[in-house]
Amino acid sequence: MNKEFAELKNDLIIRAARGERTERTPVWVMRQAGRYLQEFRQFRQKHDFFEICRTPELAAEVTLMPIRRFDLDAAIIFSDILVIPQALGMEVQMVASVGPVLPKPLVIPQNINDFLKQDIDVEKELSYVMEAITLTRHKLEGKVPLIGFSGAPFTLMGYMIEGGGSKTLSKTKKWLYEYPEESVRLLKLLTDVVIKYLVSQVKAGAQLLQVFESSAGFLGPKLFNQFSLPFIQQISSSVKQSLTDLNLPTVPMIIFVKDCHFAIESLSHSQYDVIGIDWTIEPSRGRQLAGQSVTLQGNLDPCALYADSQQIEGLVKDMIESFGTNRYIANLGHGIYPDVNPDNLAVFVNAVHKYSQNTDI
Ligand code: CP3
Repeated sequence: MNKEFAELKNDLIIRAARGERTERTPVWVMRQAGRYLQEFRQFRQKHDFFEICRTPELAAEVTLMPIRRFDLDAAIIFSDILVIPQALGMEVQMVASVGPVLPKPLVIPQNINDFLKQDIDVEKELSYVMEAITLTRHKLEGKVPLIGFSGAPFTLMGYMIEGGGSKTLSKTKKWLYEYPEESVRLLKLLTDVVIKYLVSQVKAGAQLLQVFESSAGFLGPKLFNQFSLPFIQQISSSVKQSLTDLNLPTVPMIIFVKDCHFAIESLSHSQYDVIGIDWTIEPSRGRQLAGQSVTLQGNLDPCALYADSQQIEGLVKDMIESFGTNRYIANLGHGIYPDVNPDNLAVFVNAVHKYSQNTDI
């Protein structure tokens, strides 16, 4: 597919990620293309979840749904973090009102060899994601940048061992204590795939990259430093190095971590341009931990969108005042919930526009 794209008309998020001053704070929302949108639910009645992921025209259409409705400053490619375990040979089902199910999870380290293809051609196995990205870039016509993403190794390992979501991640953490070396082997295998996957996404047209370490909070500081941090650090440094070697643009990278205030300081010394944080931390404390040389993203409680418009406006105003308009990208602290009224998302987005104008530039 042709990769000559239209000129970008709105680069607020890219400039904020790089620490440049912006006329106002950019805003997007995790899971902005999802079930809270009636048009998405209708689409899902006709198409299976992974059918959408695997069909570039369908994935592009869903990616654009929230962009058509709201004044968002970025699109995120419609896909899922679990396409990586699939590419490695694991079956993943998306079960209604349950979530993802991997019927044959990894139980013992020997399963790494038994169940997983060891040396996959990432660009080939996940070519449908790259095609969806290229097609979506064309369809966006430069309106806003397109974010590519991947799950981080530990979060992926969690789904591969638990066989789905989990309240404790105890099976996965049992591996960390019982089989630390084999756990590292699995994490390294995943890291290698994630690096290739993200570089391919940029080749295909992704303009920013977000890495989701959504399960980091289960680890606590010690396990995080051992089983998450080294791998997410390697991802940012290797992706950036590969992009430079390939003469590709070095796109801003965002790391999203959940429930781990303890990680913010170390992450601020890594090569990520942006740290995405959840709502359990005061913005000012987040800034204190992160220092001045990284952009923060977040962090309104997704449940705040159940409040009335006036309350939402007030919460957004407070949030922007405490983060400040410099080095800041507005977002929720985690994905939007399926039963949120989309009108309330509009209130959120419009309030960011209203309260974050920088009149001095
Ligand atoms: O943000 C976007 O709009 C882009 C698309 C996107 C999806 N999943 C679509 C999706 C992104 C970025 C993801 C990431 C993802 N997937 C994460 C990391 C972010 C996070 O929430 O922590 C994780 C852990 C997954 C795995 C996953 N996929 C879960 C746990 C679930 C079930 C929970 C839920 O919200 O239902 C999914 C399903 C999923 N992924 C849906 C969507 C729109 C809903 C399923 C459906 O349509 O039936």
